[in-house]
Amino acid sequence: MGEQKTVVIGVTGGIAAYKALDLVSKLKKSNFNVHVIMTKSAAEFVNPLSFQSLSQNFVIKDMFEDPKTWDIEHISLAKKADVMIICPATVNIIGKVANGIADDMLSTTIMATKAPVIFAPAANSNMYLNAIVQDNINKLKGFGYKFIEPDSGRLACGDEGKGKLANIDVILENIKTTLYDLKDLKGKKVLVTAGPTISFIDPVRFITNKSSGKMGYAIAEEARDRGAHVTLISGPSNEVPPIGVDFLEIQTNSEMRDEVLKIYDSMDVVVKAAAVADYKIAEYSEEKIKKQNDELSIKLIKDVDILQELGKNKKTQILIGFAAESENLINNAKAKMEKKNLDYIVANNIKSSEIGFNSMENVVTIIKANGKEISLEKMTKRLVARELFNIVNDKKR
Ligand code: CTP
Repeated sequence: MGEQKTVVIGVTGGIAAYKALDLVSKLKKSNFNVHVIMTKSAAEFVNPLSFQSLSQNFVIKDMFEDPKTWDIEHISLAKKADVMIICPATVNIIGKVANGIADDMLSTTIMATKAPVIFAPAANSNMYLNAIVQDNINKLKGFGYKFIEPDSGRLACGDEGKGKLANIDVILENIKTTLYDLKDLKGKKVLVTAGPTISFIDPVRFITNKSSGKMGYAIAEEARDRGAHVTLISGPSNEVPPIGVDFLEIQTNSEMRDEVLKIYDSMDVVVKAAAVADYKIAEYSEEKIKKQNDELSIKLIKDVDILQELGKNKKTQILIGFAAESENLINNAKAKMEKKNLDYIVANNIKSSEIGFNSMENVVTIIKANGKEISLEKMTKRLVARELFNIVNDKKR
């Protein structure tokens, strides 16, 4: 790991305050130094001791409570912070900051810090959508403060609507994105393949697999945000093609192969996240197959291993493959890496009960050509993409 970054979390008084405990715990697991500042009303919702235990740092509650420390704490934490996150942020703290009020530890620290400040609002829907609150939010955005939109759903007060604290993993991702505003792929050409391929049986039928495309799309987005020129070649997927990426939709293995080979030589990094079919229908029927006997057999024949072909013709490209395994994860993945001449392989256990094909999250081990294994905890596919490029660019390990 590189240097340890400090995240200062401001917890304000809402029913969602307990969710900030999960955020602290996840940040600690990601090796951040975490300091928590609670407003007086936040401390009514959650015992500061819980934050103290999880963050392993003293929780700062109220500016005037402890005269020994208050005079320096808000300045020292403001200086120490690499990022501040207000989670949950009540309309009250948003209103205070928008109007320059600094009357407690949290608001003074926000005012004193030069680090980026992110608000994750949570409120009753009518309060959140109130024009004054929206005006305050827009004003703060204009000053460069970041906001993580609340979700819609059933709120603690029983109402339905917008105001639910955003998912903690989304908040975590935002913090990491803010901290590592990397442009380390600037000028690089990155090709990503994603989704399933399909093979047609007749004009109306085909075989395919369960790949959702989510992992590949997340990789394309991450590469784009890090400054790369990205081409995404995808089989059929319900995901929305990312903005600012050259996007091509294909259906079959051979269509994917053709498109990939057209640009392969000029690429710097190639990530093959697609679940490419290994077998195709031996004989395509031009006419719709009619119902006849009780049994119907369909013959399949081997199709091209695109990645293996890329490995054979590799020049200076960094070639990254995926290995979906249901047993012997590491050994099978390493064997694939060698056979296909890869620089990295991302291995995931498709039997893991925690994650599914359509899941937002993934649990993977990234293996380098030298055999080094980096096992990542369960995280969003976007964060997996982030870790992958961190490793490839050697930023962190
Ligand atoms: N791959 C490919 N072309 C194929 C099959 C796989 O390019 N015909 C690529 C995938 O995009 C992935 C990697 O090879 O990056 C491994 O895919 P996977 O399905 O896990 O492995 P296979 O090599 O197909 O082996 P098996 O199905 O026996 O596990």
